[in-house]
Amino acid sequence: MNPFSRQDGELLADGVRLSDIANSIGTPVYVYSRSYFEARYRALQAALAPLDARICYAVKANSNLSVLRCFQALGAGFDIVSGGELQRVMAAGGNPETVVFSGVGKSEAEIDFALKLNIGCFNVESRQELDRLSQRASMLGRVAPISVRVNPNVDAGTHPYISTGLKTNKFGVPVSEAETMYQRASADPALEVVGIDCHIGSQIASAEPLLEALDSLLELVNRLNAQGIGLRHVDLGGGLGVRYKDEPDFDLETYSAALKKKLTGSALQLVLEPGRYLVANGGVLLTRVEYLKPSADDGRSFAIVDAAMNDLIRPALYQAWHDIEPVNQAAKHARTANWDIVGPVCESGDFLAHDREMALAPGDLLAVLSAGAYGMVQSSNYNSRPRPAEVMVENGRFRLIRRRENSRELLSLERDLDG
Ligand code: LLP
Repeated sequence: MNPFSRQDGELLADGVRLSDIANSIGTPVYVYSRSYFEARYRALQAALAPLDARICYAVKANSNLSVLRCFQALGAGFDIVSGGELQRVMAAGGNPETVVFSGVGKSEAEIDFALKLNIGCFNVESRQELDRLSQRASMLGRVAPISVRVNPNVDAGTHPYISTGLKTNKFGVPVSEAETMYQRASADPALEVVGIDCHIGSQIASAEPLLEALDSLLELVNRLNAQGIGLRHVDLGGGLGVRYKDEPDFDLETYSAALKKKLTGSALQLVLEPGRYLVANGGVLLTRVEYLKPSADDGRSFAIVDAAMNDLIRPALYQAWHDIEPVNQAAKHARTANWDIVGPVCESGDFLAHDREMALAPGDLLAVLSAGAYGMVQSSNYNSRPRPAEVMVENGRFRLIRRRENSRELLSLERDLDG
């Protein structure tokens, strides 16, 4: 399913030369494969059949309108965490009824916006949020569909920054508190209980912690049923891990077989909120080598490229590994060394990779792989760097889906009081 392959030594995306994209659009540029996104979505859907599962794509992973449009066309719903993401889903033609709204800090304005659009479900993360939701829904004469995000206190075994299901994390509420919230919600005419949810972390390697979380959710569902509180769906969040280096892709077969066993015959519809699984390995970040600074007296050798931590922050923030490959075969005058691939930003934490053995020459084009998820969405203008362009490859051609920012635009929101 890998859309990036070599032909005559040159790296292509679904048959399109990455060097053509770089020459036409410039670098740094994110390149995505639509066919990969579609294939991943369909594979997940097929693995879950015959469960009547709803896949709500986690917008935060890659929120470009064309990416959202792609998942919308496949019939996906959406998991959002802000009014801005809801705005995007609407702009991409998404159906608000398929939207689940997660996040610990929903503002009144965001809640009102979502209520007026009749979104499918608010994934409520605290008693205080439940109160606010009830208040806003009554004010607007609406009924808010809710699910309580349970924090099952399960260790997802992932990086601490992207682990969310432990009681030390800010997300969700403990099972006991969730039960009280459901009792309160079911007695409130401004609220309608529709589901239960959790999301225990991201880049999870195996099904076990997810299934453990499901068990504790189902126990609560049974207790609620006994109290006459019925639920329509169980939402297990996202978190399915992908291959960045040599780790295996998430074992979908084991996960889906266990889900089927636990849910077949139950009245609960399964909802999942995958982000990374659908998009990570369908994107690359193209960057060009500006300078080579080979090691002086056994220090490190630096390849300084035109992409930096502001364009792709995952290595700097999570010590994340991304494979990096030259787009073309090495030129004759290339230098082989163990390069640290670093950007122009003025921080020692600005690196894309350490110690990668390859032959490089200035001007070479590199592809930073697995950059389709949490790449562009986490980019910034640090060091007043315009953010990269984004390109989608489909049907053997490429289209610009977000043009590169320019420096003038970066200044446009500011006022120079003395100027
Ligand atoms: N649902 C909720 C409520 C979430 O918080 C997340 C991700 C997802 C779904 C999607 O998770 P996924 O399937 O993509 O693992 N920036 C980090 C990842 C942060 C994930 C935050 N929550 C990274 O670059 O690794």
